[in-house]
Amino acid sequence: MSATPLALLALAVALGGCSEGGLSPAAERGRQTYLANCVACHNTDPSQPGPVGPPLKGSSRELLEAKVISGTYPPGYTPKRPTKVMVPIPAVAPEIASLAEYLR
Ligand code: HEC
Repeated sequence: MSATPLALLALAVALGGCSEGGLSPAAERGRQTYLANCVACHNTDPSQPGPVGPPLKGSSRELLEAKVISGTYPPGYTPKRPTKVMVPIPAVAPEIASLAEYLR
């Protein structure tokens, strides 16, 4: 058994995660999900406010899970907006981890 291919893969992932402009595969998936489901209201640049929704840069996995799947917030979290405009999008549940990876 050879460990080389795995080691190379790990190296590629590590380098990809660090390089400017290049997203890790998970983050790239998250970006696709974000562009497909979120930019009607949030900005295509998650660090900026969108036409309807607030900036999402730095959103934790817990926050994304609560807000996107159930329309709620994690215990003790102070929402950026007091409104309840956003409808939950439970179909995105399998992509919460990659979304969090993209937005962190
Ligand atoms: C219909 C418009 C709309 C869509 C589509 C939408 N959002 Fe939102 N989102 C909002 C609005 C408006 C808020 C502010 C709170 C509210 O009114 O619900 C918000 C708030 C949030 C918050 C809470 C931010 C904070 O820190 O308080 C998160 C996280 C979030 N959205 C993630 C997403 C993600 C991820 C998607 C795509 C999967 C998405 N939203 C799609 C409109 C939208």
